[in-house]
Amino acid sequence: MARRKKVYEGKAKILYEGPEPGTLVQYFKDDATAFNAQKKDVIDGKGVLNNRLSEFFMNGLTQIGVPNHFIKRLNMREQLIRSVEIIPLEVIVRNIAAGTISQRLGITEGTPLPRPIIEFCLKDDSLGDPLVSEEHIIAFGWASQQDLDDMVALALRVNDFLSGCMLAVGIKLVDFKIEIGRIWDNDFQRLIVADEISPDSCRLWDIETGEKLDKDVFRRDLGNLNDAYTEVARRLGVLPSNVTHATKPTLIN
Ligand code: C5P
Repeated sequence: MARRKKVYEGKAKILYEGPEPGTLVQYFKDDATAFNAQKKDVIDGKGVLNNRLSEFFMNGLTQIGVPNHFIKRLNMREQLIRSVEIIPLEVIVRNIAAGTISQRLGITEGTPLPRPIIEFCLKDDSLGDPLVSEEHIIAFGWASQQDLDDMVALALRVNDFLSGCMLAVGIKLVDFKIEIGRIWDNDFQRLIVADEISPDSCRLWDIETGEKLDKDVFRRDLGNLNDAYTEVARRLGVLPSNVTHATKPTLIN
């Protein structure tokens, strides 16, 4: 059998050429990295959970009309996605202060923000993904003003959707990051949600206990990352409720 062509390898995922033009296969690795890959580990089963959770969130977004790259899950670790031209910006939405905004502005973690705050970071590992302003984005041509308006609208819709999903299962959506890509439908360019949505790219806190159920468990050495992700998946109905440990997740179809 012919070997598939690898198009791109990132810290947590690999992209392969897809079966049709305009498609890619996205493979979720078990690798966990933090602090621009200064902290690294392999967490058995993380890729399986993120593949399934990203499928769940992207399908939900499709159902409410938020365009995204997901086509279908292929197997435990792979999904078929639309190929996009990624805009080189990380779009962060924050509802509650945590992480770098707390460090940067001296806001105590857990402080609710007066409204959802959107931040943009330049996707450049060699620079540590620096925070950039809309002025920078326009002046350096990373996106147009129209793109920015569309990105903000998409990010706020994703925020409303994810906040609701999480609230329904007793979890607070503190913040998250998405990536956005361009596609062309005939002569029209559209922006769609790309990359992944998973506990790797969100902060999720249990509403009652404040327990962290996201990648901060790994970043801050708070326990077993798979247990946290399995709990999120179980509450959302992505895993059967009798699964208590995630090293070998059992998926339901
Ligand atoms: O680190 P910071 O507080 O800026 O992160 C905000 C949110 O964006 C967190 O949910 C974090 O997991 C996510 N993020 C990410 N990838 C990055 C930077 C941040 O998923 N490179």
